[in-house]
Amino acid sequence: MKFFLDTANLKELTEAKSIGILDGVTTNPTLISKENVFSKNDIYNHYQSICNIIGDTCDLSAEIISKNYNDIIQEGKILSSLHKNIVLKIPMTQDGLKAINFFSERNIRTNCTLVFSSAQAILAAKSGAYYVSPFIGRLDDISYNGIHLIEEMNYIYNNYQFNTRILAASIRNPIHIIECSKLGIYAITSPLNVIYSLFNHPLTNIGITKFIQDYKNKIK
Ligand code: E4P
Repeated sequence: MKFFLDTANLKELTEAKSIGILDGVTTNPTLISKENVFSKNDIYNHYQSICNIIGDTCDLSAEIISKNYNDIIQEGKILSSLHKNIVLKIPMTQDGLKAINFFSERNIRTNCTLVFSSAQAILAAKSGAYYVSPFIGRLDDISYNGIHLIEEMNYIYNNYQFNTRILAASIRNPIHIIECSKLGIYAITSPLNVIYSLFNHPLTNIGITKFIQDYKNKIK
C-alpha cells in the first residue's frame, strides 16, 4: 500500500521523506492556506518546493480552485506545467468530470476529490480519473461508515477492472489505515500524526525500557 502525506507543510514532508515512507503528497486549499503563501505565485513556488523535497518518484496532488469547466482547464494547464509529477486534484462536479475527461484524453493525470458515494466513484472512473479520493473520516463524522464505502468502491472497481486507483483520504486514525490495507487499497493519504501513531505499541516501549535496564544493571 502506498503512503501519501496529506499536508503542504515542508517540514513534515522532509521528516516523512527521511523515514522512507513517502510515496506521494496530497494537498487541498485548506492545507495550502496554512502555509506561508499569499498569492497564486507563492502557491506555485510552494508546489515547486514540495516537488524538490519529495523527489521524482512521488506524486503531488494540487487542487484546482476554479469551478467552471473553462477555468478548470486553464488552471489545470498551469498547474500541470509546473512539474511532471503534479496530479490535478479536481472536485467531483459535472464540470469537474468534464475536465477530468479532457485531461485524461491528453494523458494528464487527475485525482477526483470529495467523493462520498459509490455512484460518484463510478463516474470518476468512467471519466478517466487516475486517482479517486473517497473521504473516510468526513463520512464517519456524519455517522456513515467510511470504510464501508471504500469496501464497496473496491468491489465495484474490481468487477470492471477500472484503472482508477483508490486513494483513501480523510484518514483520522490507524484503524482506517489497517482496514484499507486489509482491503488491498492502492494508497492512503494521511496526516503525519496518524502515520506516527502506527509506530506506537505499549509493549514496544516497555520492552525497550526493560532491555536497557537489564543491560545497564550488568554491563559497566
Ligand atoms: C484529501 O485528499 C483531503 O486533502 C483530505 O484527506 C481531507 O481530510 P480531512 O477530512 O481530514 O480534512
